[in-house]
Amino acid sequence: MAVLTRFPILAAALAQTVAAAVAAVAAIALRDILHGAVGSTIILLVQCAIAVAVTMLLRLPVWWVWIAAGFPIALHLALQVDHLPAWPFGVAFVLLFLVFSNTAKERVPLYLTNRSTVTALRSLMEEKKATRFLDLGSGLGDVVRGVHGDGRVARGVETAPLSWLISWGLSKLQGRGTILRQDIWQTDLSGEDVVYAFLSPEPMPRLWQKASREMKAGAILVSNSFAVPDVEPTEVWELSDRRKTRLLIYRMAGSHEA
Ligand SMILES: C[S@@+](CC[C@H](N)C(=O)[O-])C[C@H]1O[C@@H](n2cnc3c(N)ncnc32)[C@H](O)[C@@H]1O
Repeated sequence: MAVLTRFPILAAALAQTVAAAVAAVAAIALRDILHGAVGSTIILLVQCAIAVAVTMLLRLPVWWVWIAAGFPIALHLALQVDHLPAWPFGVAFVLLFLVFSNTAKERVPLYLTNRSTVTALRSLMEEKKATRFLDLGSGLGDVVRGVHGDGRVARGVETAPLSWLISWGLSKLQGRGTILRQDIWQTDLSGEDVVYAFLSPEPMPRLWQKASREMKAGAILVSNSFAVPDVEPTEVWELSDRRKTRLLIYRMAGSHEA
């Protein structure tokens, strides 16, 4: 069970396997009643429903429930198309892997900070008279490029190969900020005034331990949307963007806090 919690992709595969098996048994058992296009549609819907039910039973986050429902339908539609070339799927798989490689391992996919949040981060740095900024898991580097400048020095670390390559190239081209191909957990936080994280609920306890050990007194950890469990933020900034972004701001006490 622990392995399914750690790697939800395995739980999703299990849900689809159980659903496919149930759908296959139903199709065989009810072949005299369920035939033709209506029959296969009903079997397909049964498969979706079972996949959704198993995914919910395994208590996966809600987006996995949507994937569980959509996957059999997408597969069914793809199989309907004659002479579909295989290479676009291969290319899509490789591209997705190069961007989303941290999803299975770290349970952190790629989603991007919006412009209002970057503006808020700049204001936060001005207000706190901070100059050094680090984005942990910098994605396509928009935050790093947006924060860097006017006396602020911004860096980002990213391990997903394609995201790193794109953001590294854009930073070099625009001369704004620095992107390193480096793991969050290998990155030293001791010199930073503001450390920004837009990750997921999963790594927050470990991130808090790391930040508490390494960040200097008075430095600030900002988490976009995801709270550190059982730790009261010093401030919460609620932005008026469409996403209603919440910036949870933790002022660090220094190494004795860990
Ligand atoms: C939700 S995205 C945020 C991207 C960017 N910070 C932004 O706000 O636009 C999280 C990023 O963290 C990266 N990531 C996850 N785990 C990581 C790790 N251990 N080391 C480096 N990057 C990681 C992912 O590849 C992804 O690009």
